[in-house]
Amino acid sequence: MNKALLIILSIFAVAIQSCYYDNAEELYPAITDGCDTTNVTYSNNIQNIISSRCYGCHSNTSYSDYGGGVALEGYDNIKISADNGGLIGTITHNPDYTAMPKGSSKMDDCKINQIKTWVAQGAKNN
Ligand code: HEC
Repeated sequence: MNKALLIILSIFAVAIQSCYYDNAEELYPAITDGCDTTNVTYSNNIQNIISSRCYGCHSNTSYSDYGGGVALEGYDNIKISADNGGLIGTITHNPDYTAMPKGSSKMDDCKINQIKTWVAQGAKNN
């Protein structure tokens, strides 16, 4: 095999590899779709997740009837569950906690990872 052919083949190999990485988002939409864990804030990410998946039982009007007395609406309320471990324990289905969202499927990894990131960064009101 001559040198020129080898070089052409290596360029092909690199090109194929970079195509693979470029397309990872399309190949695995569940991981990347709306899943920026580098820049997670309460107001941009966490509030939306909790309101869509948890307010049915844990809003300020529903929590006493449906949420076992645990309110998650508003920063001050969710901060309590973030700090006492209940938020992460429930959404990751840790056996020490009741699995949440109750009666529904586990949230996708993206949402769980965003919440984990937010809590790990101090569950700030950001
Ligand atoms: C269908 C109603 C319902 C939904 C939806 C729901 N919960 Fe709950 N949640 C409950 C009930 C009821 C309890 C009381 C504990 C129990 O039933 O075991 C509870 C308890 C909790 C607790 C306290 C549990 C503990 O052991 O400390 C946390 C934290 C919690 N939920 C978080 C969430 C989060 C986060 C979501 C959304 C991802 C969610 N819940 C969605 C009904 C719900």
